[in-house]
Amino acid sequence: MTGDDTNIRVAFVCLGNICRSPLAAELLRGHLGRLGAADRVDVRSMGTAGYHVGRPADARTAAEALRRGVDLSAHRAAQFTAEDLAAFDHVFVMDKANLHDVLFLDDEHDAHGHKVRLAREFDPEPGDYAVPDPYAGGAQDFAHVHEILDRTTERIARELVRQHGLGDAET
Ligand code: 4NP
Repeated sequence: MTGDDTNIRVAFVCLGNICRSPLAAELLRGHLGRLGAADRVDVRSMGTAGYHVGRPADARTAAEALRRGVDLSAHRAAQFTAEDLAAFDHVFVMDKANLHDVLFLDDEHDAHGHKVRLAREFDPEPGDYAVPDPYAGGAQDFAHVHEILDRTTERIARELVRQHGLGDAET
């Protein structure tokens, strides 16, 4: 490590903050840990809607994650605010509706829009660039979302390490 202990703040945003974004956050923490960069990055997740504030991750998302060794039990849902948009360094959204809703919070004449990206821009197999909402789906939809987010957050971890000079590869 260098002497620079400034944390980089990363937020994942979906609609309800119980399925996609809590999983993305925990998967990114794991990938950053494997790159030796976990202690330099604060990873959070939030939803554009307030429906589920204070609730744990969706049981189907959590069960699929646990089956693959990822523990979401500490998660409690929160709503993404304009203050969050100003505070975070990177905001990764799951779909174009999230992108719209997050950018709509930017009342400072697009002061923060440059920080907001569709997460699947980093997916080597990006499809239509949306992480599909699994909420009304079946078990295979939760597995598919897990696979998308695992490979996407692995690329995001590498990009954060490269962009901010973090981790074991730091020179
Ligand atoms: P998420 O999934 O945005 O990935 O957390 C959803 C969770 C809840 C609802 C929609 C999507 N809902 O309508 O309650």
